[in-house]
Formats: sequence, C-alpha cells, structure tokens
Amino acid sequence: MPSADAADVGVPQRGSAIEPHAAFPWWAMPNAPGMAPDGAGRVSGGGSSRFRERSALSLLGWVCNHRQLSANTAENPMELESLRALYVDELKDLYNAEGQILKAMPRMIKAASNRQLKQALTEHERVTRKQVQRLERIFKDLDETPRGKKCHGMEGLLKEGKELIAEKPEPEVLDAGLISKAQHVEHYEIAGYGTVRSWAQQLGFDQHVELLQETLDEEAEADKRLSALAESSINIEADESDEESSSDREVAVATSRETGSRGRRTRTSARRGRSEAGAM
Ligand SMILES: [Fe+2]
Repeated sequence: MPSADAADVGVPQRGSAIEPHAAFPWWAMPNAPGMAPDGAGRVSGGGSSRFRERSALSLLGWVCNHRQLSANTAENPMELESLRALYVDELKDLYNAEGQILKAMPRMIKAASNRQLKQALTEHERVTRKQVQRLERIFKDLDETPRGKKCHGMEGLLKEGKELIAEKPEPEVLDAGLISKAQHVEHYEIAGYGTVRSWAQQLGFDQHVELLQETLDEEAEADKRLSALAESSINIEADESDEESSSDREVAVATSRETGSRGRRTRTSARRGRSEAGAM
C-alpha cells in the first residue's frame, strides 16, 4: 500500500491563503478519521508506528480539508452559518473575559508593590477598556448582543490571582506571582483573539480583522512588558526575599531571646526600606 504524502492529504503549501491557526479542533469532531473513541474510552488508531504516521497525515488532511470548506463559504452556505455562529460565540466569551479582567484589575494594582508593575497593570486596565469598545463595535456591526456567555477559563485564571493575594506572601514574591498570573491572562486572551481574527478573515469581515489585530498587538505588547519585568528586578528581588525571610527567621529567634520583639521590628522596617529603594 503506497504511503500517504503531503500532496495526497491536502497539506497547504507555502503561501497558501489558509492559515494554520483557524482549525476547528480535530479532537472535538466525532467523525475525525482514526480518532473515534473505542469501547474502552481510548482513542483508536494505535498499533504500528507506520499506521500512526498515516493516521496523523490523514488527520492533518482532514483538518485542512475542513478548513478549506470553512473558507469556501460561497459554495457551502451551511459552513458559513456555523462558522459565523462560532465566531459570535467566541466573541461573547472574549467580551465576558474582558469584563472580568476589568473587575479584577483594581485588586491586582492595589496588591502590587513594584512601581513599574503597578504602572504596567494600570496601563493595561486603560487599554482593556478600549478593547471592550472594539468588541462592542464588532457586535454592533454583526447586529448581535455581546452578552449571554460566561468565560469560565478567565474566571479560573483570575480566581488563582485572588487566591495568591489572599495568601499574603512577601511583597516581592507577590509581585513575581502577580506577573505570572497576568501573563497567564494575556496568553489566554492572545489565543482567543488569534482565533477570532482568523475566523473574521475567513468570513470576510475585513474591518473586524483590523480591530482584532489592534487588540492582539496590545495584548502582545503587555505580555512583552510583563516578561521584561519578570526577567529584571522583580524575580531577583523575590529570590532575595525568600532567602532573607529564612535567614531573618533564624536571626529573629536568636535576637528575640535577648531583646524581645524590638529586633524584629527593626529588621522589618529595614527590609521595607530596601524594598522601596528597589522600586525606584
Ligand atoms: Fe484584553
């Protein structure tokens, strides 16, 4: 039996108009070749590595062909309708996610100690308001309401941030944790906006593509800024804070035997002073 190659299974060639980002998830499709769950709940299509290789190639072909169908809307109005519905659904999800972020931002800004981190979060709060307005413009153009969906993914990410703040770690450690949580949020948004931008392209909503790209650029910029903060002073300070905390605890025990709680108060204010100087 001849082996399948890229041409047989319709792999898009370089320069193809089909973007790899906009696939329907193949694992969610009940009739995806070689991927129907077997009776034991496992995914079928196992066996020899050669068989798995061919299955992977035919899967890829299936995904590409499905994508081609979605793009070829003039020939298949049903595909257009379902892709439009999916597009609106995902936009609603993003709209709800942005609303949740706006509610959570003041709490995160207040919790941050580092001045640059506070500035980055405050700036992103302002940018998020513009992103919400862009989504509202798109909904208006589609004659759809933005409401009616809860983004559970964003709810979970923001809950983790809330839990971190409630744990009340050392300020430098909290800053490093807040950066991590904020970057999780950014990456989640980038994935969602990348998808809807590709669908807008396939559906021919050129103005939406421009608006969504603006938001994508802002999310990427925010992520870059947070990465720079994470790689510079904040994480180093968090490391030092961890070390200081353990050595401070040891010294505090010894000192308190001699002078009571006075020594501890002195060290706490000295550490606070270092932290403020580092934030300048
Ligand atoms: Fe956003």
